[in-house]
Amino acid sequence: MSETINRRQLLRAAAMLPLVGAGLASVANAAPAGADAPPALPLLPQFDPAPWARQAALVGKKGAYVWTENVPFLPGIPAANFVPLDAIPTIEWWLTAADAFFTIGIDVVSALIPVLNAMNTSTLADARNQMVGQKQELAQYHIRFKNLGNGKYNMDGPRLGIVHYDVTDQDMAEATLLQAEVGRLFNEFWLLLGNVRQNLMELIGSQQGIGNFGSKQGLAEYNAIFGTMPIPDVASNVHDDKTFAWMQQGGFDTNVLRQVRELPANFPLTDAQYREGIQADDGLAAALAAGRVYMCDYVGLGKMASEQATYKVLLGDTWHTAPIVLYALPPGKGDLEVVAIQCGQNSGTSPMFVRPRPDDKDRYWGWQMAKTSAMTAAWNYHEMFSHLGMSHLISEVFTVSLNRTIAPNHPLYQLMSPHAEGDIFINFLAATIIMPPKSFADDIVGGEINLVCEEVVNQRLAWNFHDRMIPNDIARRGLNNPQLDHPVRDDSTRIWNALHDWIDDYVRLYYHNDGDVTGDQELTDYCNEVINIGKMKGFSRPQTVSQLVDLLTMVAYTASAYHASVNFPQAEFMTYAPFGSGTTTAPPPTEIRGHTEADWLRMLPGMFSAVAQFTFLHQLATVYYRPLGDYRTNAFPFPTPFSDPRVFGPDGPLTKFRNRLDQIEAEINEANRSRFQPYEFLLPKNIPTSTNI
Ligand SMILES: [Fe+2]
Repeated sequence: MSETINRRQLLRAAAMLPLVGAGLASVANAAPAGADAPPALPLLPQFDPAPWARQAALVGKKGAYVWTENVPFLPGIPAANFVPLDAIPTIEWWLTAADAFFTIGIDVVSALIPVLNAMNTSTLADARNQMVGQKQELAQYHIRFKNLGNGKYNMDGPRLGIVHYDVTDQDMAEATLLQAEVGRLFNEFWLLLGNVRQNLMELIGSQQGIGNFGSKQGLAEYNAIFGTMPIPDVASNVHDDKTFAWMQQGGFDTNVLRQVRELPANFPLTDAQYREGIQADDGLAAALAAGRVYMCDYVGLGKMASEQATYKVLLGDTWHTAPIVLYALPPGKGDLEVVAIQCGQNSGTSPMFVRPRPDDKDRYWGWQMAKTSAMTAAWNYHEMFSHLGMSHLISEVFTVSLNRTIAPNHPLYQLMSPHAEGDIFINFLAATIIMPPKSFADDIVGGEINLVCEEVVNQRLAWNFHDRMIPNDIARRGLNNPQLDHPVRDDSTRIWNALHDWIDDYVRLYYHNDGDVTGDQELTDYCNEVINIGKMKGFSRPQTVSQLVDLLTMVAYTASAYHASVNFPQAEFMTYAPFGSGTTTAPPPTEIRGHTEADWLRMLPGMFSAVAQFTFLHQLATVYYRPLGDYRTNAFPFPTPFSDPRVFGPDGPLTKFRNRLDQIEAEINEANRSRFQPYEFLLPKNIPTSTNI
């Protein structure tokens, strides 16, 4: 038996070799035993008759999951100092991600070739042909994956109740080889994509220009980037005020919006301006008193929004400010209207742009330019704070703490490890590939990249666990106004409550009283690491079963639904640069009247940045892996992590949870029929269990 295990460990370690180029294999140590050993029934540590066994397991995990605050380019962020072997993605993830990445890669290169006038595009054509070949090879791996064990592992079906498979050595070997081959192919694709990027940089650096693709003469050139891919609907509504306002109700980031009862001193909107902008029978004082006024103040961007030009070799001068945007609900209406925009924090230098009436040609383009400034701020806030800092990097703390302190046979490990899957790996890629200077993030955001990273760290450390719990967050920001139609509020509440009910049912199978909570030493250690090493504000050690349920709900919600709500809108709302991007190439307007469309076009990012934005975000937003309710381990052939039949039986809490998710799916589909736009990012089927992309 031990020989078998050793052979399997060897195979799994060998499968990681293609990842050496990414610096991952060298960090591997404790290889997992695989999924072929039946899992033990879960036990709280205080009731475990063999405490030494779980302590030994934790010693091994602590050797693999090691804290650091020296993450490249994000110093001060508590995170794993390397990717442990058992945190490497599964074959399923590689296949899913490769599908999305290869498809978009081929499209982008194909779209670039015809518009790079008379330039040397033979290398691009070669790259496209290689990508097509890689995709064909990938299709073969999909077939081999489905045929593993002649289909006996039911790769696409639910794992409910399957706690153990008898896996033959031959199947394990095939799975291991497959993982290695897909990993190698993925690595080759990334190298190819890097070559394409280098090729483009050289074209720009050669001073020969990049043909019509490098100019900004109209929106057609931005449309051409999409090649054969569908252009998002927002392309038809770039200048639409309703669509702009909808971003705060059902858009890519609704986390900045808050109700205001008085205006800040640096936003001196007058009653006359309010009446003009709301375009309804309404006054400012009445609206404030009724709680119908909302604001997005991007002051939190800090040094990211210098209000000065930042020069970048590939982008030229980029501009980025911290606007203040005022929204309001007209009396009796449920959808927000954008009323006014101030493009910077200083009202002495940034004029108040008030929404003009549609026939006001003199102010139309100045208003569009102000909206572009505001959208750029929202875009940066989303990517760097709401997405990276408050989602990926928050979940990393809980993932590392879980693996270091909670034994594998602890009921909380079985519950929470699927919510932790993939986060360390994807964050490692973010820190080492996306965030470095002159890499992907630097190509698409306006701020100086070192200052951007500094503010990401600040926002991550300022994030408050208690305040961000969904019910608290809704109340804190005044989104609980029943007049306000807010799909994100409503759908997030549905998911939060379902998760809370399921976790409550689950936890009470093992914790029978509050003493069981305070007597759980592993839980205590977990909380101490989260607080003291993870630097998690607003987090406290639970003293009761109810507090434990709240805590776990928040961790699971953040890793699943919250991440989904900021990750997947990227494809629809954030890939089309004229609607929103991370940078502008001209400062915001200082004159309210007399602008032209050409003035607005000058603000839009250059084509290199627009291509990078489309490619990068489309990749991130199209990888759907393991939906909520489908709990699996990450060891082939991926059975359920739950070893207790009470959990997954026909009347068990997991079945109840899955049924509730089905109901929510129907409820949201029904609600979408009467919304300004359907909101589908929190449909349960669209919520991965963990933050893995
Ligand atoms: Fe993400």
